[in-house]
Amino acid sequence: MNALKKLLPTRLMAGLRYIRHGRLSWDRTLPSADLSSAMTTKEEQALFTKSVRDVAKLQGQVIDLGCWLGSTTISLASGLRDLNDSGKVYAFDRFTWEPWMDLYSSEHWCDYLPGESFLPETRRRMGDLKPWVVLVAADLTTYHWDNGPVRLLLVDAMKSWRLTTSIAREFYPSLVVGSIVLHQDYLSYNHPWLSVLQYRLRDYMRYDTCVSHGCTATFKLIQQIPPDVLTAAINFSLLSDDEAERSWLWSLAVIGERARGTMACSKIMYHLGKGDIERSKRLLSESGNEHIEPHNLLTVQQDIAKAESGDHSWAEMNADR
Ligand SMILES: C[S@@+](CC[C@H](N)C(=O)[O-])C[C@H]1O[C@@H](n2cnc3c(N)ncnc32)[C@H](O)[C@@H]1O
Repeated sequence: MNALKKLLPTRLMAGLRYIRHGRLSWDRTLPSADLSSAMTTKEEQALFTKSVRDVAKLQGQVIDLGCWLGSTTISLASGLRDLNDSGKVYAFDRFTWEPWMDLYSSEHWCDYLPGESFLPETRRRMGDLKPWVVLVAADLTTYHWDNGPVRLLLVDAMKSWRLTTSIAREFYPSLVVGSIVLHQDYLSYNHPWLSVLQYRLRDYMRYDTCVSHGCTATFKLIQQIPPDVLTAAINFSLLSDDEAERSWLWSLAVIGERARGTMACSKIMYHLGKGDIERSKRLLSESGNEHIEPHNLLTVQQDIAKAESGDHSWAEMNADR
């Protein structure tokens, strides 16, 4: 770029920038992308960037579901930039501030009222990575994807049975063989549906790796998922406790000890989601607590206590399968 700047007249450079950025920027350069607010660890961010390199030879889009202030998006987009890849990261979110978001961003504490849009802030944070990013404001419970094949899908928005169904229904059919799915919540204490989904699709997607710090586990598509198999896999209405149990055991078998505490929590939260407080308490005491990370243990205990005091928000959110 600097060599070009010396060779080409200023106005021509400005014209080229106009074509690239869609507006007159004269001699201004965009600031660096801003990763200061993130719900992901450095290890996860490095894995996201590396995963873009791993799918470099495949055709298809790179997708980030539930980008919030963009730590996932920036990690993916920098992978594209490093490769000189003209592709873009399609980053989805409702971009609507919710009270819990204050807890994760001291920078924005009290900046937004619940319901306000933070889309411009996410865009600002993209900085010099803007040319590699398309931000899409959408509700993923109803969004329909028809923008072609997908080579990388980062999922940080499967927050309920319902979102798991709608996201898998819309995006899994577009995955190309060899594509990577990064489940950012797989090793989180309260996403029992992720194991169920991946267990049901185990003949089509192979577990690949997971992080030591953070909750991400990755899967690779080894063969296209037939439509009827996917339809059955995302129908959770008839899920039995036995099948759910088998899915956590499967996750434990393929991931190993790293998943033990998480899968124990998934089971407790699954039964809490069904409104069975007594069973959740029994499972928690039987688990012996030894494999559950202290902050997860505390959160599970708090969630059970909330349910006991009549706050059934967890169960209500997950009743809808
Ligand atoms: C845990 S945050 C994502 C954090 C982010 N990936 C990061 O890098 O720091 C989950 C995001 O999912 C979004 N989300 C939740 N439900 C959604 C829906 N139905 N449609 C679109 N986005 C949704 C939320 O707005 C939130 O920003």
